[in-house]
Amino acid sequence: AQGLFTYDPGFVSTAACESKITYIDGENGVLLHRGYPIEQLAESSDYLELCYLLVRGELPTEEQSNEYRQTVSQHTMVHDQMTHFFNGFRRDAHPMAIMCGVVGALSAFYHDKDFSDQEHRDIAMFRLVAKMPTVAAMCYKYTMGQPFVYPKNELNYAENFLHMMFSTPCGDYEINPVIAEAMDKIFMLHADHEQNASTSTVRLAGSTGANPFACMASGIAALWGPAHGGANEAVLTMLEEIGDIEHIDEFVAKAKDKEDPFRLMGFGHRVYKNFDPRAKVMRQTCDEVLEALGLENDPLLKIAKRLEQIALEDEYFIKRKLYPNVDFYSGIILRAIGIPVSMFTVIFAMSRTIGWFAHWNEMVSEDYRIGRPRQLYTGYTKRDYPTK
Ligand code: SDX
Repeated sequence: AQGLFTYDPGFVSTAACESKITYIDGENGVLLHRGYPIEQLAESSDYLELCYLLVRGELPTEEQSNEYRQTVSQHTMVHDQMTHFFNGFRRDAHPMAIMCGVVGALSAFYHDKDFSDQEHRDIAMFRLVAKMPTVAAMCYKYTMGQPFVYPKNELNYAENFLHMMFSTPCGDYEINPVIAEAMDKIFMLHADHEQNASTSTVRLAGSTGANPFACMASGIAALWGPAHGGANEAVLTMLEEIGDIEHIDEFVAKAKDKEDPFRLMGFGHRVYKNFDPRAKVMRQTCDEVLEALGLENDPLLKIAKRLEQIALEDEYFIKRKLYPNVDFYSGIILRAIGIPVSMFTVIFAMSRTIGWFAHWNEMVSEDYRIGRPRQLYTGYTKRDYPTK
């Protein structure tokens, strides 16, 4: 159209930020946290040790680890007045809507801190790591119409979450160690992932000097979308919609149809153009959990495995380097554990909180300036208002 700005494509530059926390090599399917490969961390570490590593930059000594775990366990309860926030929601509210509201409200409980001081930033870290499982479980209990369950400090991090999710005043949930270990692995595999959409949202919000709890709420809002953290929920919905192996070809054809915006959930990635290394660990964990639960013949797992095989053999997917991503298997594990689909992204948000915090902390620990993305203006050039 006449008078529109044009621009030199050479002007386009990706405004990258510097970070020492996580490194991704998308072409080769590499993910390092402070230099350690995710596969080795998933094999030998656990979520709380990874929390320490992401923020502090080094693995903790045994003494540092014990002190960290002890501090987390002393802050797992939420202020009793927090429970009133839940009552404002309808019982059929999506748990992500509730979590977004309640985590944002934490900024009203810790507003008297000077977050330019690392000691106060540590206070925020411990409260977030300790309270996110409690808040997540409360979101579930509220939508179930069940009373909130208090944390039990003698349980480990993943066990405590499962206890708060599934115990009731009538009886405690019996913790299966295979399930607890799988839960911890899911937390680890979702902990951080460089400058993804939700982490970039947290960094941008934090660059204005906003309260860290409010910044975490902005990350939760961004993660909710089906193109991002909402994909695990969308994968399960898609597998249930496929329903049977015979219907797979029809869905694959839909995904290739350029007219139809349908995409195979759990496939593809903005950065990985190879197997997401987290998906490989998640697939192994999925096999272990379903075997432990006697569900190795789960029909959805069969559909998932057949879908994965097609994606790895089909020209359309190979050409576009569409591999299974972290969300492809996690939903099958969570469903097998008995966690409702509506809670999948809540668990992703709970796991990713440490990543959001680590990036926020890294940014505000140094001199930083307010983020201000620029645009490529393609509208009208200056024109005068028509004279009457
Ligand atoms: C997460 O950034 C992160 O790090 C995110 C995350 C994290 O840990 O924070 O890893 C978590 O968000 C994982 C992604 C979860 N989302 C999904 O599984 C939803 C389904 N995936 C797609 O929506 C998509 O793959 C995205 C959003 C993940 C990436 O979208 P892009 O960047 O547009 O994909 P692309 O540029 O690589 O697409 C190349 C081609 C395109 O076709 P053509 O125009 O070249 O013909 O592949 C097509 C796309 O249309 N395509 C798909 C597809 N994904 C891309 N076709 C069918 N099914 C798909 N899933």
